[in-house]
Amino acid sequence: MTTRIILDCDPGHDDAVAMLLAHGSAEIDLVAVTTVYGNQTIDKVTRNALSVARIAGITGVPFARGAHRPLVRTLETAESIHGESGLDGPTLPEPSIPLDPRHAVDLIIDVIMENEPGTITLVPTGALTNIAMAVRKEPRIAGRVREVVLMGGAVHGGNWSATSEFNIVIDPEAAHIVFHESWPLTMVGLDATHQALATPPVLAAIEAIDTGPSRFVGELMDFFANAYKDAQGFDYPPVHDPVAVAYVIDPSIVTVRKAPLTVELTGTATLGMTVADLRSEAPEGCTTQVALGIDHGRFWALVTDALERIGEPEA
Ligand code: BDR
Ligand code: CA
Repeated sequence: MTTRIILDCDPGHDDAVAMLLAHGSAEIDLVAVTTVYGNQTIDKVTRNALSVARIAGITGVPFARGAHRPLVRTLETAESIHGESGLDGPTLPEPSIPLDPRHAVDLIIDVIMENEPGTITLVPTGALTNIAMAVRKEPRIAGRVREVVLMGGAVHGGNWSATSEFNIVIDPEAAHIVFHESWPLTMVGLDATHQALATPPVLAAIEAIDTGPSRFVGELMDFFANAYKDAQGFDYPPVHDPVAVAYVIDPSIVTVRKAPLTVELTGTATLGMTVADLRSEAPEGCTTQVALGIDHGRFWALVTDALERIGEPEA
């Protein structure tokens, strides 16, 4: 049984790894890729997504460009982590597949409405602007999505402010909409993804695969490691976004706990904080859960297995 997913992303080094993991996994059917501003402008991340598709040999999957800015706030990008292109490090090939003419919001709605209810999982790994706009435009998608598994947020501390994680704080209003919809939602935040470190043994295992896509990941990680060291003092970079994909492939790799969740919209020092009520057992009917940790070895084994499976795509 494969799980059909829409990857909504802002590539982005870790988004690129998420896309490779989704494409290379036997358990996932990647049915659409949509882009959202975030790590860089919408033009840059959309081009990056198409370049990654070429490197990975992804064909026959629609790619659509999405929101260019947050719902309310001004645009903020993560150049300090992802560089001027949004995917600094490797030389990126010219895209070889065309963009779908639809806006990402319409592609998301079309895919969910055209498929049987309960069969499409949404995996957002960027700001939640497209997903919020989609559910406002077509509210019936909330009852048809199998689940939303997003990378974003944190229970304990942030990375873009003391309390808040980047994907949530750059469009907190969108995140609030998505967190309060009726769909089942898993927040794969920093509590889990800060354990997804690309350590030297991980990088050695990726290098040993010795294919175009594995060398691409190695080059991405070289840049990402330096950026994370300089900007945030990490010894090894946390590769956030594929953890959400890994949870879809094998939920037992991620430790999760059911809890009511909300997003802080009015705090002056805490804007964009994701607040999880972990004081007691979640109430009956709670539809949200948080990821609190991962199995590092099994997570990276999924990524290396996916790269092995992708092999050497035709140029
Ligand atoms: C998240 O922010 C982005 O820079 C990464 O791609 C990831 O989705 C981590 O906070
Ligand atoms: Ca991302």
